[in-house]
Amino acid sequence: MVVPRLGRSVGHLLDRLCRHSGLLAQPLSGATARRGQASGRPGSNPGAPPGSYSALRAQAAREPAAFWGPLARDTLVWDTPFHTVWDCDFSSGKIGWFLGGQLNVSVNCLDQHVQKSPESVALIWEQDEPGTEVRITYRELLETTCRLANTLKRHEVHRGDRVAIYMPVSPLAVAAMLACARIGAIHTVVFAGFSAESLAGRINDAKCKVVITVNQGLRGGRVLELKKIVDEAVKLCPTVRCVLVAHRTDKKVSMGKLDVVLEQEMAKENPECAPESMNSEDMLFLLYTSGSTGTPKGLVHTQAGYLLYAALTHKLVFDYKPGDVFGCVADIGWITGHSYVVYGPLCNGATSVLFESTPVYPDAGRYWETVQRLQISQFYCAPTAVRLLLKYGDAWVKKYDLSSLRTLGSVGEPINHEAWEWLHKVVGDSRCTLVDTWWQTETGGICIAPRPSEEGAEIVPCMAMRPFYGIVPVIMDDKGSVMEGNGISGALCFSQAWPGMARTIYGNHARFLDAYFTAYPGYYFSGDGVYRTQSGYYQITGRVDDVINISGHRVGTAEIEDAMATHPSVPEAAVIGIPHDIKGEAAFAFIVLKDDVANSDVVEKELKSTVATKIAKYAVPDQILVVKRLPKTRSGKVMRRLLRKIVTSSSQDLGDTTTLEDPSVITEILNAYEKYKQPKC
Ligand code: WT7
Repeated sequence: MVVPRLGRSVGHLLDRLCRHSGLLAQPLSGATARRGQASGRPGSNPGAPPGSYSALRAQAAREPAAFWGPLARDTLVWDTPFHTVWDCDFSSGKIGWFLGGQLNVSVNCLDQHVQKSPESVALIWEQDEPGTEVRITYRELLETTCRLANTLKRHEVHRGDRVAIYMPVSPLAVAAMLACARIGAIHTVVFAGFSAESLAGRINDAKCKVVITVNQGLRGGRVLELKKIVDEAVKLCPTVRCVLVAHRTDKKVSMGKLDVVLEQEMAKENPECAPESMNSEDMLFLLYTSGSTGTPKGLVHTQAGYLLYAALTHKLVFDYKPGDVFGCVADIGWITGHSYVVYGPLCNGATSVLFESTPVYPDAGRYWETVQRLQISQFYCAPTAVRLLLKYGDAWVKKYDLSSLRTLGSVGEPINHEAWEWLHKVVGDSRCTLVDTWWQTETGGICIAPRPSEEGAEIVPCMAMRPFYGIVPVIMDDKGSVMEGNGISGALCFSQAWPGMARTIYGNHARFLDAYFTAYPGYYFSGDGVYRTQSGYYQITGRVDDVINISGHRVGTAEIEDAMATHPSVPEAAVIGIPHDIKGEAAFAFIVLKDDVANSDVVEKELKSTVATKIAKYAVPDQILVVKRLPKTRSGKVMRRLLRKIVTSSSQDLGDTTTLEDPSVITEILNAYEKYKQPKC
């Protein structure tokens, strides 16, 4: 392992890149007075000033190797230099970056900063109880990571083995991720709100050897029995040899044959651990997410490309500067937590906040009190939380001094006008930059966001607007043809690979190809719809497939249907997403009951608990409507579009119903819905 070089700023490197590639050496931000005019297509803005956002984006699209090569060389600490910048082909689903290169992600996130400034703060753990934050330096985080890495090795975790992490947001959870990275193991963090069955499904799919968890979690003043959930899950998981149990509370939990007290084990280990040299394209982690069909898929992210992309987007989209306190309040169980709580900020040597609590604990001022106390510079959150908080009124915000804030970010779902304006005016005092960032578990990092672009460049409310460097959006029509020009909408695809994107679905490359590269051959299909404005900006219009987004959490309608169909009294169910004030979307289920069901209320209750047990609480439908049959086409497909129309449209126009097997089903369901809407006495 070579001794890592000191970290350098990505901005400086981009400047260098400009020089290297003949683009004039202009600092990336604030250099030009020109207003950023995003162009729909790369290279279509030949008049763009050299070094400007437009020029760099055009270059990244035209010459990916010249753009990404120097960035990767200079941003990351390598053991072995790469010989090939990229080797990608969307028509065969081949994606490879920085081939021949070797590095260790934990060295990039820890050692390089420890060499330079060991006592600088890596993490501020904002614990559930306000005012009890804990600061962890880069030196401490490296030591904890190494002890944990040695513990994993002691329990026979080798390079390439999978480790499940089922923990609340905490420094130990971050150390667990980095410990895997250090020894070349592959982590899969499972959001600690998923049920035992969901956890077991993921552990089994990944064939995890070890699970890392805690005795109990604490969130919003409530205790979460995480170890109990793991116990239940592990019973179903033959591959698990050991469960490492850390302690978040003083409560003693029962320890079984496989269980080991993590803190005790770590105390015995050496605080140093030699990092494995990993190939750029070795797996770094799996993260499970829902699709429109089937069980959740384990998206695979690899080492170098992912890390570079997370670090670069973290720096440039949020205008992160040394000394800032970066506050992303996402859970580490989601991709947002991976890229913008852990990997991006730590690779940049930043101070990253770990938020354990909820937006309303102990009151609706929690976020803003935290911003004031920790002096947060960038605050990255989800629209669902903003919608919830704005209902409590402005006083909760005004109470606190938020002058440390410079950038606000939104992610996970479309942000509505009211929420955007409130975040901008009330929280940001009309002074902070607000970036609506579009991306996905699959994309690894932010793909479309108002920044980077020249300082002062226009930001249109509620719009992600501008593609990041190397992101080439293409809009497709129904027939699968590329739509040209502006003022058009269609399916959002990308024509070119970028370093941060997922490489495959774990154990099922055919499904990867089928889900993302088959609908529009030669392109990556996102599953979202998009509108390109007259000015060439991108506005996401929502999913075009059967995936719904409840409070920013993604779930397939088919997953909920499958869970419901396990109930013995429910032969059939169809689930749709309907608009919801706070959650963005909520699940609405149509169910068919067997003839012998006497009390449908009981079944409905049982169904809700089944969904909570099989998936997670957030996936439980808000509403369940009993119908005699579902609307089906002659080929037997449920017409969910029709169900959506019935519930969400006030007009009688239900669109094309000619493919229905029996059109009389419409009146049947309309009547049932009318009756359902009437207040029950
Ligand atoms: C889906 C991805 C990206 C991290 C969190 C969610 C929706 C995400 C936006 C946005 C409109 C958005 C899309 C996307 N989405 N960000 N700014 N505006 N929609 O990751 O769970 O993989 O979900 O979230 O529909 O496809 P995810």
